[in-house]
Amino acid sequence: MTSSLGASSSKTADDLVKGQDLEEDKTRITAYITSTGESQETTVNYNKWARSYDKDLEGTYRAHLIAADALDEALPKGDKDGGDGGPRGRLRILDVGAGTGKVGIELGRRGFRHLDALEPAAAMLEVLKTTGVYNRTFNEYVGVGKNSVPSGFYDVVVVAGAMVKGHIPIEGVDDLIRMTKPGGMVCISMRKEFTEEGGDYQHLETRLHDLQQQRIWTKVSRKVVPNYFYNHDGVVYIYKVL
Ligand SMILES: C[S@@+](CC[C@H](N)C(=O)[O-])C[C@H]1O[C@@H](n2cnc3c(N)ncnc32)[C@H](O)[C@@H]1O
Repeated sequence: MTSSLGASSSKTADDLVKGQDLEEDKTRITAYITSTGESQETTVNYNKWARSYDKDLEGTYRAHLIAADALDEALPKGDKDGGDGGPRGRLRILDVGAGTGKVGIELGRRGFRHLDALEPAAAMLEVLKTTGVYNRTFNEYVGVGKNSVPSGFYDVVVVAGAMVKGHIPIEGVDDLIRMTKPGGMVCISMRKEFTEEGGDYQHLETRLHDLQQQRIWTKVSRKVVPNYFYNHDGVVYIYKVL
């Protein structure tokens, strides 16, 4: 019989230390992301975290890759080797809750060229500007009061990792739609368990579906993906605004 003790004793001391380090990292990272639900508290946390954010999430967080891959699949192919990027290079994209710019870097690698960013935490935005892949930046929120993003302006509005308690609320979806051109797309990449019963976004899918019933938009895809954050599954939605 294999006991759990037997299973763990087959690990080397190095494996055990690595496992413990990973758990400690996950707890520390989760503390930055978690807030009581107040936007200002969330922003204070991200301003403190900005300088080590990219390093802390290296290899264990994939929201940005998942969103970029979903858009790569859904949109016309471009010229990835430079130039204006072909048809996809002309698409105007807004990265919402853009953080340090991880989505923009991935979209740039996939041939997208016209990228703007919206991010409430000024220190995150400072790091984002160093990527050199974004044009205009908005130091603002969505779903929490007003913002100055023009209506019907973007071909694509993308959110990766910002549908979390105390971040973009479900009502923020209306804002994402407002910013998108008719015929444009909204892409949301998030942790799947948040959308399930008992999760902070358990009513999100009902809202997405209601908007489809109201002919505000139509679903292009919904994909479940492994290892979104550590071993947690993610889900990525793409909707086309009508
Ligand atoms: C986990 S980070 C994700 C950053 C980036 N998209 C990525 O994948 O690395 C979440 C980001 O959402 C931003 N955020 C929080 N509340 C927001 C809101 N109401 N509107 C827009 N962004 C928000 C935070 O400041 C933070 O930078």
